[in-house]
Amino acid sequence: MTSEGWSSQRLYRPFIRWSLIVAITLGFSTGAAILIMPLLGMDRSLTWVTHSQSHGIAQLFGWAGLFVMGFAYHVVPRFFNSSIRYPLPQRISMWLVIIGLFLRFTGQSMYKTTFADPLVLAGGILLFAGLAVFALTLFEVIRLSKNRTGPAELWLMNGVFWSVVAGGLHLAVTVRMAVDSAPLGYAPWNEALIYVAMFGFISSFIFGVSARAIRGFLVLKPMYENLNRVALVMIQTGLIVLIVGRFLDLDQAVASVGLVLLATGAATFTYALRVLEPASGPARRFAVGYAHYDWLVRTAYVWLVLGSMMLVLTALDDAGVTELMPAEVSLPVMHVFTLGFITTLIFGAASRFIPIFEGSDIRHPRLMDAAAIAVTVSVLLRVTFGFTISEIGEQALGASGGIGLVGIILFAIVAFQAMSNSAREAYAVRAAAFGQIKFDSTVQRTNPPVTTKPVMTRPLNLK
Ligand code: HEM
Repeated sequence: MTSEGWSSQRLYRPFIRWSLIVAITLGFSTGAAILIMPLLGMDRSLTWVTHSQSHGIAQLFGWAGLFVMGFAYHVVPRFFNSSIRYPLPQRISMWLVIIGLFLRFTGQSMYKTTFADPLVLAGGILLFAGLAVFALTLFEVIRLSKNRTGPAELWLMNGVFWSVVAGGLHLAVTVRMAVDSAPLGYAPWNEALIYVAMFGFISSFIFGVSARAIRGFLVLKPMYENLNRVALVMIQTGLIVLIVGRFLDLDQAVASVGLVLLATGAATFTYALRVLEPASGPARRFAVGYAHYDWLVRTAYVWLVLGSMMLVLTALDDAGVTELMPAEVSLPVMHVFTLGFITTLIFGAASRFIPIFEGSDIRHPRLMDAAAIAVTVSVLLRVTFGFTISEIGEQALGASGGIGLVGIILFAIVAFQAMSNSAREAYAVRAAAFGQIKFDSTVQRTNPPVTTKPVMTRPLNLK
């Protein structure tokens, strides 16, 4: 295990590959199946409720979690100007999370058998251990750094902290399932776990990367740093209130206060980041990655704001303060965050960052266009029809599941290709041609053609 030469490593690659494999095999496929089942005349029996929960965990810790972990191992030492131990912690944490998720998924699916409880419990322990290794490895990176106070750094430190808390809450949920021999996680604890994973772990890393790299790439106006701190405090307080309310079985109003704080904090962060304002100037760079990544990033933040508004309304309704939101038939608000914000953001950021990290090209931008459209249509259908029970609504939800699954498959093809040799070679050829043009124009500018001498357009043969 070494920290020498860490910067030349591409530690994120297996994480991204496995994140996509888990998303397609356990996450999006199960979600789509649950929504398509009623169209085929099948009942949503207990088996499918257990699958809904396993789907949620696979998506949060597998699809989004592994992706974020891979990116974090790459960017956190760079942002903190520090170094990182590799490759053992990365390998151990990745396999613990993958095996933990697989055991939890299988155990909960086989809830009628005697294997269920030990499998679910083992899944909880391994997932927690994987996130603990992840958090300890990054904690060491942060400890060695002298720079910990910038807006990005604050969010990343929070992400490290909440990642291990999310693993701990998941462990608590699985221990209770195993002890009670219950097919489902206890709903109030499960809810707290979902929000901690979504806002504490995953979104904190997304906010950290947004506050530094995405802000730079989109040439955003200077961030409102005080508001950013307010957002940070609101989200931390919201998570703590929610955990206390749910784990101590307090009145619904307590959890609702937590959710309102979370939603307000997320919307405040979006405002502080100024990502929905026009750029402060043109981005003049050699084009790398998907050309429309900025659209995806901005769309993701629009979903975050919309989701936050809906969350406030549902939380107030749950607490009995208002009665504004219609009854939900398929968790539309949750999926505005998970599919609309997190997934769209990952699509946007990855379609830009993977080619930059790799020095590669997106070989088929049209596939990426189709993936972007698919995820957007999937969320739109989910929100439009997630509140109504009707035949057309059921069909639209089924379509939303299928379209979302197609979207992730297309994105997986793009991401796998962007990490291939051919994509790196294509980039090298394009960069060399661009460099030659730049070189020629610089030479022409510094040696302007003189009419009495022959014009020299290519003074040096680089071949
Ligand atoms: C096309 C993509 C997706 C489909 C079709 C889908 C479908 C579903 C369905 C059918 C449920 C059960 C409750 C309901 O009827 O709404 C559910 C729950 C859930 N989904 Fe998704 N989902 C998708 C994407 C995602 C993503 C990307 C995430 C996270 C990153 C996610 C996280 C969750 C969570 C946390 C739950 C709640 C589980 C629980 O109650 O314990 N989903 N999803």
